[in-house]
Amino acid sequence: MNRRLGVLISGRGSNLQALIDAVHEGRLNATIAVVISNRPDAAGLERARKAGIEALCIDHQGSTSRDEHDRAVGRELRARDVGLVCLAGYMRLVGAPLLEAFPNAILNIHPSLLPAFPGVDAQRQAIEHGAKVSGVTVPLVTAALDGGPIVIQRPVPVLDGDTPETLSARILLEEHRAYPEAVQAVLEGGWRIEGRRFVRSVSGASR
Ligand code: GRF
Repeated sequence: MNRRLGVLISGRGSNLQALIDAVHEGRLNATIAVVISNRPDAAGLERARKAGIEALCIDHQGSTSRDEHDRAVGRELRARDVGLVCLAGYMRLVGAPLLEAFPNAILNIHPSLLPAFPGVDAQRQAIEHGAKVSGVTVPLVTAALDGGPIVIQRPVPVLDGDTPETLSARILLEEHRAYPEAVQAVLEGGWRIEGRRFVRSVSGASR
């Protein structure tokens, strides 16, 4: 698989930083070709520039429709020969133009064990539901919101005294480990989609 990554962000960019660090440390055999934010004030843009990575803002407010914004993002990704798109705190739904340009080649990271607690505020949802365990999911992105084939999941305990902030912080540590591993697994190939399932042919890989 083409090992050039495009990372889409909207804010802080700590998962982007985890990918940058994993590349630098040789745990992730990839090149981050470009980072694109839909918000000009995303702190992650600065993280990318500091690491010498091209960082662009394509402000969604400058587009007349979601499809037009998606097409603009897709053009920039293709112009840099990106093979795998990583959403990292990208607060936009990905529409048909991007999904069709990168079939089974867009990953997301979500702070719960899907299909529990999809959408926004997953950590608060877990606490309010009374879940004892939540965690991290890295799915492929499809038209179903947070419903694509699951590449990696990691559990994280929910403690009695947790607030959304303390649980988010504990989950985030696991996100930073899981995302580079999931990206590496996808880039290594040797997987297929069977129905809803992401299936790896390499033994011992299905964690
Ligand atoms: C993370 O919790 C991620 O799971 C969710 O949005 C947050 C982004 O954080 N999709 P960051 O911008 O990567 O620091």
